[in-house]
Amino acid sequence: MKLFVTGGAGFIGSEFIRQSIAAGDSVVNFDKLTYAGNLDNLVSVADNPRYSLVVGDICKAADVAEAMPEKCDAVVHFAAESHVDRSILSAEEFVLTNVLGTQVMLDVARHRKAGRFLHISTDEVGGDMEEDEWFREESPLEPSSPYAASKTAAEHFVRAAARTFGLETIVTRTSNNYGPFQFPEKLLPLAISNALEDRPIPVYGDGLQIRDWVHVADNCKALRLVLEKGFAGDTYHIGGGDPMTNLEVLHMLLRIVGKPLSLLTTVKDRPGHDRRYAVHFGKITRELGWRPETTFEAGLTQTIEWYQDNAHWVERCKNGDYRSYYETQYSPAGRG
Ligand code: NAD
Ligand code: DAU
Repeated sequence: MKLFVTGGAGFIGSEFIRQSIAAGDSVVNFDKLTYAGNLDNLVSVADNPRYSLVVGDICKAADVAEAMPEKCDAVVHFAAESHVDRSILSAEEFVLTNVLGTQVMLDVARHRKAGRFLHISTDEVGGDMEEDEWFREESPLEPSSPYAASKTAAEHFVRAAARTFGLETIVTRTSNNYGPFQFPEKLLPLAISNALEDRPIPVYGDGLQIRDWVHVADNCKALRLVLEKGFAGDTYHIGGGDPMTNLEVLHMLLRIVGKPLSLLTTVKDRPGHDRRYAVHFGKITRELGWRPETTFEAGLTQTIEWYQDNAHWVERCKNGDYRSYYETQYSPAGRG
């Protein structure tokens, strides 16, 4: 396949690109390289002749159109502002990238006659689930945070492009991904790196919020399957099938790392914090035969080992060195 990927320097997009290059596909990665874009994630494919990088903003239609080849097999749209806490501090970038940027991508994909448009969404668009309630593909969308609201709006534009212009779209909604190369602002990489350095781990509120965790490699296998065999116009949920409270997750993590529970430090809760997500992914299992391969404990153990073995990667995230390529090649000062 010839793929045009947005946001491929991020956590999930880079795993998707590594898998796609290994499978023989060719990939153009269009990425703005925001704080979340990290070219260290793509070192293993950077010199592959089937991989290329274009640094650009999905909100700029002319730049996207120039980068997107005519009639690529699919656009795979990961690019987004992805961190809930940042959206609470300021929602502007979320509206621009997640909503306007998605609409720009849909327009350009249509004009450049892309085969398919795979839109990467999230289980957060469903909002809080009651006890025993499941979030299904046909459930109402009731987002709680500005991030989730922007992802919900984006989904509506995807749906409208399919209905109005006949664009061949597919939407996936995934639960919390975890695994290697995740930026250390999200719960698991933050908790792992703090635990390894004997630093406190912030627990929002009572820590009893429930999340479903899926390994990023399993998620990307599902995305590739949906791309090849999914039905146009459909939505597919993807999850790990192992919902846990944040405290259960953190207790397991500390047990694996061999550090004391006293590292857990209660802090003020996230405003509007969703209590429970419960993504139901029976449809993708039934129709396409996908199910997660990695149990949470095995995946967490492997992820912790990766962070231990890649302390240099974490260090470069924390001290800002991961941005040096961007600074020299693409910042206004560097260009001259
Ligand atoms: P991330 O924050 O790690 O990476 C986002 C990437 O998008 C970065 O490379 C960044 O540089 C790029 N980007 C941001 N704004 C851009 C713009 N205007 N133009 C071009 N590129 C831009 O994100 P992630 O965790 O890999 O998530 C990828 C996608 O999956 C997002 O759409 C997110 O909403 C969705 N998602 C994430 C999770 C999760 O657990 N991480 C779960 C469900 C869905
Ligand atoms: O559910 C899918 C979503 O998962 C994605 O759409 C988002 O892009 C992704 O960021 C993630 O959102 P969450 O808000 O669930 O992830 P986060 O890692 O920020 O938080 C996970 C849970 O842990 C949540 O209940 C808040 C809590 N938390 C988070 C942090 C960063 C803490 O208790 N302490 C923390 O320091």
